Amino acid sequence: METRIGKRLIIIAIDGPAASGKSTTARIVAGKLGYTYIDTGAMYRAVTLKVLRSGMLDELRRDAGLVAGLLGDTVVEFRGDRVYLDGEDVSEAIRENSVSREVSFVSSLKPVRDRLLELQQKMGAARGVVMDGRDIGTVVFPDAEIKIFLVADPHERAKRRHAELAGKVGSAATPTVEELEEEIRQRDRDDEQRTHAPLKRHPEAAVVDTSLLTIDEQVARVYDLAMNVLEG
Ligand code: DC
Repeated sequence: METRIGKRLIIIAIDGPAASGKSTTARIVAGKLGYTYIDTGAMYRAVTLKVLRSGMLDELRRDAGLVAGLLGDTVVEFRGDRVYLDGEDVSEAIRENSVSREVSFVSSLKPVRDRLLELQQKMGAARGVVMDGRDIGTVVFPDAEIKIFLVADPHERAKRRHAELAGKVGSAATPTVEELEEEIRQRDRDDEQRTHAPLKRHPEAAVVDTSLLTIDEQVARVYDLAMNVLEG
């Protein structure tokens, strides 16, 4: 692709907690490099949507092994920046609060992680990807040339999420900043404390605190790191 810098293709792994700015940064950096952007959170959300629709959530809480049957031949794929679950465009549906509330539980299940890990490693096998999530630098691609760990103050993250939701559904339908902050803190705890592939910084990952950074500044930090590797 013409926009690619140099001949070498690398993997950029961006991990961090909910609403830390990962997706926005990853998408823009991928665009600038001519790379593919892979939002692994969207993949966990798609599987969560499937679980919710199946009505099996409570059964799974009692017997996690049952999820294997549901995963069966589940297909999660990206076409451009849209996410498809078994051929259906679920890009909007996976952002609903019902999904956000249960995604930490569903993504803590080992069969779900094993399945998505395999898919994600296939998607990045040719390199030339920016992948964001919770365990990309630690588990999915520990050999990623660039590993970033984005962090941001929980209150700041709640304010961002609030503005984003208010823009989409209107302020009346949007939870308060305080409610969102509590949800975010809870999700951080769940993601950090789970047994399989918890949210954790790889020792080599560069920490970028986005609390006081604009999107342009976040993008510049990651892009500069990439250029150092690609031109170095
Ligand atoms: O990035 P996000 O908030 O859309 O991710 C939703 C959830 O998916 C997150 O709370 C935990 C899970 N997740 C994960 O376990 N591993 C990843 N690589 C990405 C997301």
